[in-house]
Amino acid sequence: MDKIRPKKNVLKLILVAGARPNFMKIAPLLKAIDQQNDNLSSGNPFIETFLVHTGQHYDENMSEVFFRELGIRPPDINLEVGSGSHSYQTATIMLRFEPVCLEQKPDWVVVVGDVNSTLACSLVAAKLGIKVAHVESGLRSFDRSMPEEINRLVTDALADLLFTPSTDANANLKKEGIPAGKIKFVGNIMIDALISRLDEVESSKIAEKLNFVPKKFVYVTLHRPSNVDRPENLRQIMKKLGKLSKKFPVVFPVHPRTRKMLEEISFGSKLYPQLKLIEPIGYTDSLWMAKNALFVLTDSGGLQEETTFFRTPCLTLRENTERPVTITVGTNRLTSLKTLEADIKKILDGRYKRGTIPKYWDGQTAKRIVKCLVKEWKKERA
Ligand code: UD1
Repeated sequence: MDKIRPKKNVLKLILVAGARPNFMKIAPLLKAIDQQNDNLSSGNPFIETFLVHTGQHYDENMSEVFFRELGIRPPDINLEVGSGSHSYQTATIMLRFEPVCLEQKPDWVVVVGDVNSTLACSLVAAKLGIKVAHVESGLRSFDRSMPEEINRLVTDALADLLFTPSTDANANLKKEGIPAGKIKFVGNIMIDALISRLDEVESSKIAEKLNFVPKKFVYVTLHRPSNVDRPENLRQIMKKLGKLSKKFPVVFPVHPRTRKMLEEISFGSKLYPQLKLIEPIGYTDSLWMAKNALFVLTDSGGLQEETTFFRTPCLTLRENTERPVTITVGTNRLTSLKTLEADIKKILDGRYKRGTIPKYWDGQTAKRIVKCLVKEWKKERA
């Protein structure tokens, strides 16, 4: 509920969330804003927020469950864009987001991550002359065949404030000619959300439900087009997972994109009773799995970071990663279908890096972001 305040002391933000990996980045921001408003010191603005859900993800277990678990208030508007080609999705979000900006007249549009919703809303705001703040800025895989890389490049080129999770991101932005004054190294906001759920992670019931013993199972998530969209590739991956499951139980919550492709290749998991293909799981259960798995095999950006935080060995089935700090500092390693067995053996033999936690992955990132936004607001009014 908005408090009564003089209009001139209001900093108005539109926050955009659209797809599963966005929700854990928005939750800490909303919390930090509430805290700032509850302890408003003189000279600081009241921060008004308007929460937009683009509807890019819409299934209960891809969206609502995260709102519930992370205590995110219902969105002020859902643009209900749904699925479609990249152009369809991006263009439809743009068409539906523009009137929201015109009506709400925010000082800033805050976008997070690298999904199509991030790109679409940044474009609309920039064209309307509204300032854009990008949270999780500067990550680069240098692989433009990844749709997210295009989203990152364009969003960062348009953004007025670029909040980075690691110092490699600062270096990337500087190389692209972004003025240093716009780049703010604030740390990893995903880790804010993770730290806020640690108590609940301890009481997760997923292990009992699936009959798992900590450190004796493998956690798999795969949904990138590069892994799942080509039938022959997916077939090979599933065969390897089946083989692995003869040694350790393998749990694989299946993303809707992957589910569709598994149906297309008519993959039957019946041959492999220890390969458990389940529906997508919620945030807290996923954190429990990342913390307690023997190792994680994934192509998700978030899981590369969460395993680094928990110091769980992680194999990333990709040719590159936009999160190199999870390799240089954390527990992550790139793998391929060719090297997978050897890479798994290294982990089983204990030959993996224990890693450390990167700087500013400390649960305080959202507070740093709010502080920067308030500072900008004051600068403009000075
Ligand atoms: C999107 C992001 C990706 C992120 C991923 C996390 C882009 C370009 N990609 O990929 O960066 O890692 O989300 O999940 O933004 N579907 C459902 N229910 C849903 C959502 C999707 O069934 O709630 C199905 C639809 O058939 C859809 C397909 O999944 O066509 C893919 O969804 P989409 O949002 O296009 O991309 P993701 O693969 O989820």
